[in-house]
Amino acid sequence: KMDQKIDSLLSVMTLEEKLGQLNLPSSGDITTGQSKSSDVAKKIKEGKIGGLFNIKSVEKIKEVQRIAVEESRLKIPLIFGMDVIHGYETTFPIPLGLSTSWDMPLIQETARIAAQEASADGINWTFSPMVDISRDPRWGRVSEGNGEDPYLGGEIAKAMVRGYQGDDLGKNNTILSTVKHFALYGASEAGRDYNTVDMSRIRMYNDYFPPYKAAIDAGVGSVMASFNEVDGIPATGNKWLLTDVLRDQWNFSGFLVTDYTGINEMIDHGMGDLQTVSALALNAGVDMDMVGEGFVSTLKKSLEEDKVSLQKIDASVRRILEAKYELGLFQDPYRYTDVNRAKSEIFTSENRAFARKVAAQSMVLLKNENNLLPIKKTSTIAVIGPLANTSENMAGTWSVATPQDKSISVLEGIKEVLGTSGSVLYAKGSNLSYDKGLEERGTMFGKEIPRDGRSDEALLNEALIIASKADVIVAAIGESAELSGESSSRTNISIPQVQKDLLQALLKTGKPVILVLFNGRPLVLTEENETVPAILDVWFAGTEAGYAIADVLFGDVNPSAKITATFPRSVGQIPIYYSHKNTGRPLANSEGKFEKFRSNYIDERNEPLYPFGYGLSYTNFKYNNLKLSSEQLKENESLEVSVTVQNNGNYDGKEIVQLYIRDLVGSVTRPVKQLKGFQKIFLKKGEIKTVTFKLTVEDLKFYNYDLDFVAEPGDFEIFVGTNSEENLKSKFELVK
Ligand code: IFM
Repeated sequence: KMDQKIDSLLSVMTLEEKLGQLNLPSSGDITTGQSKSSDVAKKIKEGKIGGLFNIKSVEKIKEVQRIAVEESRLKIPLIFGMDVIHGYETTFPIPLGLSTSWDMPLIQETARIAAQEASADGINWTFSPMVDISRDPRWGRVSEGNGEDPYLGGEIAKAMVRGYQGDDLGKNNTILSTVKHFALYGASEAGRDYNTVDMSRIRMYNDYFPPYKAAIDAGVGSVMASFNEVDGIPATGNKWLLTDVLRDQWNFSGFLVTDYTGINEMIDHGMGDLQTVSALALNAGVDMDMVGEGFVSTLKKSLEEDKVSLQKIDASVRRILEAKYELGLFQDPYRYTDVNRAKSEIFTSENRAFARKVAAQSMVLLKNENNLLPIKKTSTIAVIGPLANTSENMAGTWSVATPQDKSISVLEGIKEVLGTSGSVLYAKGSNLSYDKGLEERGTMFGKEIPRDGRSDEALLNEALIIASKADVIVAAIGESAELSGESSSRTNISIPQVQKDLLQALLKTGKPVILVLFNGRPLVLTEENETVPAILDVWFAGTEAGYAIADVLFGDVNPSAKITATFPRSVGQIPIYYSHKNTGRPLANSEGKFEKFRSNYIDERNEPLYPFGYGLSYTNFKYNNLKLSSEQLKENESLEVSVTVQNNGNYDGKEIVQLYIRDLVGSVTRPVKQLKGFQKIFLKKGEIKTVTFKLTVEDLKFYNYDLDFVAEPGDFEIFVGTNSEENLKSKFELVK
């Protein structure tokens, strides 16, 4: 039926109408790129638009859809996109935070709720998940991804796609998902956004491609090309990437959209004029042109000059129409525009309660000296810091639909959870972020960096007076929301200096200080790790952040999250990641001592501050009895790996048990460790559980020099433990 419908449409469409389907302007309601204006309503009537994005509210969407299906010649419905990245109005933690839960059902459910809410407001297509592996926390968009690991990244990619799309895209509460940014965007040189990427194919296939491929295997409906170049050709015009890999090797059958003005930007990349780059993009495999209007304005000429073919154009139109068909828009163009749903299904108390739970699962306890946390509910608590009393900073980057003023601040959350049993004092303590660098660079997204009218001294003095009256200080400090996300690269990834100074002044009072850390990336926390007794990393936890922070601080929730991106000791260690290679001159000592003529730094040790997979709990877990079912693994057989985990602390708690391997000898060099499995378990205090993993030859495969996916016989080490550094070790042999 679908094919018949599309064939009959294609047979009557003019070239202009065909190119119209490939055109995706922004409505202008929300700014997510460099602005471009377009007379949208007129173009819709003329059949010159295939979809629209960044339009918020079901009423507006309904009206625009009405124009398309009642006033355009062929009445083809529009598709409506939006960056629904970590929730819609009910907002979950930023993706990097969410990934630290390592909880796939939970992550899937966040995407399902996001789809439910977005679809109730007229949206049927999201530009998520973003699955770019990144090992460079200077890059502001690490906040939007799932960290550094391809295996974990792949699992999360699948969970997100399933959450958005469900089993059946034809339902009105599921939406089409887009995996982005294809490809390698997270490896931009020096962490500078939009910068050059240059990488060996073997690294692409082994370390950077797996999450995109996982999303495609999970049936993602669309793919977004990335801004960066790949092998010297911008991804948007790279036929090897968009056709050979994506379509021929991975069998992707959905449609491919550019990023915002991705085609036009190829002019600045130095690939030619608008006509040339538009033809390049179409020929490479792009179907839909976001914002730039290169397709609508030049492809007709390119067709006349034989630079593109009608088959190519038709194939792209077909893919867009197929997506619309699968979404049920031909059957009912108003399927997603029920105004009653918008009233009852968005930002509901159930969704918010779930978001609170998710947020608490995403908070990483980085340090807890002498069990300072959890805080006794009878305490007098001084909540201090420029991030303590602001709802605007709770949701973090890419929260375009979030009702920012309705997010729960730290202060509100603590007051609510504490009730009348203790008391809460508050002082702002400092401004947010006016490091010299930031100050000189001026505004962020056109907004002045907010400054308090009072002097620094006055703010600090007030904080010290408040601190002196308290039993314990909760310092809510770190990055403000706009310091991470798109176009928010930093060279100094510390807490802004003014807040560092505040923290040190609070420590000098001698009162116990708990750092509630806000961040959209791994930060350099070397000084804080040395001086602050307790650190809880809360990322940007969404609309319910304040409640969830309080739930963890008071021990109503025992933290269990583990970081998915390495925290460096200093910026000079970047890029830094756990699955690095051994080199020919690895260090002989593990004490961090310098060794001449070995691979290390004169002025810094090699190890990170906090390794991948690290995160504490209020309880303790003891690992014992790592056992393998055999010393050998044979083709078509599996190896059982078991370990006992005991909760020998004072709280019930969840633990994320991690399994890593090392392939000791290969035809190409292999990483010193690779994550191959994880399980999140719950143990009551005193309880012991045996955790079992199953390994097969598939788990040992990698792309070799010829890019064949193979497992090579030989010795492997296996590690099971609480993070990528602390684990029990054993070994086995892969025999053919
Ligand atoms: O989806 C985003 C993308 O991640 C970055 N550029 C803008 C797009 C649409 O808003």
